[in-house]
Amino acid sequence: MAEASLIRPEGTADDWTIPQSWSSYTAEEHATWDKLFARQAQMLPGRVTPEFIEGLDVLRLSRPGIPDFEELSDRLMRATGWQVVAVPGLVPDEVFFDHLANRRFVSGNFIRRPDQLDYLQEPDVFHDVFGHVPLLANPVFADYMQAYGQGGQRAAQLGAIDRLARLYWYTVEFGLVRSDDGLCLYGAGIVSSHAESIFALDDPSPNRIGFDLRRVMRTKYRIDDFQQSYFVIDNFEDLLSQTLNTDFAPVYQALAGESEIAPDAVLATDLVYHRGSQAYARSKTDA
Ligand SMILES: [Fe+2]
Repeated sequence: MAEASLIRPEGTADDWTIPQSWSSYTAEEHATWDKLFARQAQMLPGRVTPEFIEGLDVLRLSRPGIPDFEELSDRLMRATGWQVVAVPGLVPDEVFFDHLANRRFVSGNFIRRPDQLDYLQEPDVFHDVFGHVPLLANPVFADYMQAYGQGGQRAAQLGAIDRLARLYWYTVEFGLVRSDDGLCLYGAGIVSSHAESIFALDDPSPNRIGFDLRRVMRTKYRIDDFQQSYFVIDNFEDLLSQTLNTDFAPVYQALAGESEIAPDAVLATDLVYHRGSQAYARSKTDA
């Protein structure tokens, strides 16, 4: 993940990477990974897109303990030419885009404390590796992530990072995908969260709306709680081709004249899979 303005911590390279220092993880830290992994691995089959499970398998992620990035990168490199590199936390947007554009995924090297199993604001190694890396073993999704990084480099020049960030948010982090039996999860923010893996798919509260690139880039999002709307893609091929075939510069220009869309809004033009009651979000406002 990226953030606009940050100061590079001491000890990081120019590209903000650090050694993962795998041998420094404690037994308790490995046990935290195992606990989180077991909980998600039990719940996700049948809920997550099959490409995610295939990725876990190809990358041998089910082995106990926090993965060693060197070994993980070897497998990922053989599958799709991607690598995983360690960073101390959030990195600036342009650094993040540069890594993605060069098929490097940045991952926090720390893991949450045992009392933070359910929620953590800053992405840790479980979110970054378990949530994001399995789909990087899928050739189409791997190309989409690189295309996003290249799009980010262009958006930075056009002053449109905030627009493009919404595309990342509603696909890479919180996306749903159609399947033969309904909807499936694929967003890393969902699949790395036990509670949101259930909420995003089963709860009557959020909207589930067909993905539309321009619509998504107009839609604000929540960073502190479950999403009020999830966007559903048809498949990864379609997401990739829409991203590659869109000339973003005129889109950014056109969007500048259009209003923002609230996170809970449903438009007359939306393809609505499920119109949310928003009961959950309302219960939070009333509390
Ligand atoms: Fe993430």
